[in-house]
Amino acid sequence: MAKRMFSGIQPSGNLHIGNYFGAIRPWVALQEQYEGIFCIVNLHAITVVQPPEDLRNWTRELAAWYLASGIDPQRSIIFVQSHVPPHAELGWILQCVAHFGELARMTQFKSKAEDREVVLAGLFTYPTLMAADILLYQTELVPVGEDQRQHVELTRDLADRFNHQYAPVFTLPQLYTPPEGARIMALDDPHKKMSKSSPSDASRIHLLDSPEQIVEKIAHAVTDSGREIRFDRETKPGVSNLLEIYAAATGKEMAEIEAHFAGQGYGTLKREVADALIAELAPVQDRFRQLMRENDLLDHLLAEGAQKAQAIAAETLRRVKDAIGLL
Ligand code: AMP
Ligand code: TRP
Repeated sequence: MAKRMFSGIQPSGNLHIGNYFGAIRPWVALQEQYEGIFCIVNLHAITVVQPPEDLRNWTRELAAWYLASGIDPQRSIIFVQSHVPPHAELGWILQCVAHFGELARMTQFKSKAEDREVVLAGLFTYPTLMAADILLYQTELVPVGEDQRQHVELTRDLADRFNHQYAPVFTLPQLYTPPEGARIMALDDPHKKMSKSSPSDASRIHLLDSPEQIVEKIAHAVTDSGREIRFDRETKPGVSNLLEIYAAATGKEMAEIEAHFAGQGYGTLKREVADALIAELAPVQDRFRQLMRENDLLDHLLAEGAQKAQAIAAETLRRVKDAIGLL
């Protein structure tokens, strides 16, 4: 049996190139070696309040982006988290395995909670639901961006604790982050990560941005003092972020890229980064638009995906309940 990978993205806004290079594109490549299970985590998305109509649209769009980027529904399972009830059930059970203190240490929770007046309880227990997602499928590999490292480590801790406390039910998953693109930074501030939720549209490149928008946003990206084009996150965070985007879009090695830009100015760098992004995204955008015209096909694939996921998840959940003594 092929080893399994599991990953997911929240339908909580328009996707950007951080989501693409950090997550979706590595999934596509890893499909060669792993059986992929890719979730649209709408239960995670409601840990902050979402307008219902947006949530519905983003959910469909996310399914279309998975497919447009090259997730093959013949080989991999694509499904919506709320369609498979074992996620919520195991999520609860893992809240009764996790410690309050370890959830309180999650840096994503701390930074998201800091920005808001009302913090929903679900935002705090979010990592237990993510652990449930992963553990239901006896996942071996979790390909995600760097910001999810702590959540995957917690998932391993919870699985290990459960296995010792009750019975050895869960496989311990490994984290996978891509060599390039695991942490794309905001264009207007290379000290912050590019994110769906930043109020500034200029901070990120959306997957649907037009060539003109891409050229414009890259042209306005913050660079650094000096003129040298060199990869060094400490002293040249802006230029390094552009070089990393270029590396992710072209698949070239950093040494080769630095040699290519030696003696050139920031203007040339920005033009070439924009061109590389446009070339990478254009075919994905075409397929996305095509898929969004085929609503029935998307719904059919998601229903089929949910059925396959449910069969695997229900079996794990049965073993969990049995181990705990839930009659
Ligand atoms: P989210 O937007 O939080 O649902 O993230 C979905 C996936 O994209 C996760 O695997 C994240 O780690 C990844 N991701 C989000 N932002 C970035 C970024 N700026 N750079 C690289 N990966 C990212
Ligand atoms: N927490 C992840 C994020 O915000 C999304 C996610 C939910 C996830 N469940 C998952 C990622 C399971 C990998 C595996 O990016």
